[in-house]
Amino acid sequence: MRILAGNWKLHKNPKEAAEFVATFDTLPTLKDEIEILVFPQALTLSATVEATRTSRIRVGGQNIATEKQGALTGENSPLVLKELGAGYALIGHSERRQLFGETDDICARKVELALEVGLMPILCVGETWEQRRSGQTAQVVSQQIQLGLSRVQSSSVYVAYEPVWAIGTGQVATDQQAVEVHRLIAETLRGANQNLTHVPILYGGSVKPENAGQLASHSEIAGFLVGGASLDARSFHAIGRALQ
Ligand code: PGA
Repeated sequence: MRILAGNWKLHKNPKEAAEFVATFDTLPTLKDEIEILVFPQALTLSATVEATRTSRIRVGGQNIATEKQGALTGENSPLVLKELGAGYALIGHSERRQLFGETDDICARKVELALEVGLMPILCVGETWEQRRSGQTAQVVSQQIQLGLSRVQSSSVYVAYEPVWAIGTGQVATDQQAVEVHRLIAETLRGANQNLTHVPILYGGSVKPENAGQLASHSEIAGFLVGGASLDARSFHAIGRALQ
């Protein structure tokens, strides 16, 4: 099983999401073993679920609140996301960590809550350029994994390795850089909890049709979390082809 996931960030209104799905579904069918996911903003989620009723594409939320309900103005309830038809939730994307102050503890709570309501959490981790430059990548990433998954018992979780310096910059990690951290994450997962031994680890950060093939040639890379190149159905599909 390999995973092709598109993070649409704050793009796509309901009409554009429906057009994306319609276009994607006219393209040659990707192999069954590829799980295809899109993450629309919350306001576009219902329309995306509706548009994917007869499609292979599955839908997830980009963020969830730390509670199912309560006094949390402006947040997204994981329970309601689930009720609306989402099956997945991104947790701790670097933009959430950097712009909205999400800590590893907050991520751990969100992972726990996602599992409680039946959403598959995708925990995002990754170092900044400064951290990589000063040799802290292994420490930063393994800590994000250990703390972020500290409340998980089951194996129902995915991890996405997204070096912060590669996100939206066009500066993709080399496959050696990615594989090295993927191995470290796999080792950290094994060490943390036997149940986490087979957790799929996605790579994200400037993945494009032109660089996906090289990255996908490594078995350590179980799939991609794609930002910019997921906005266009054809380029997203081309990245999917690289995974099969
Ligand atoms: P990018 O974004 O592909 O545009 O670099 C990846 C992400 O933020 O998940």
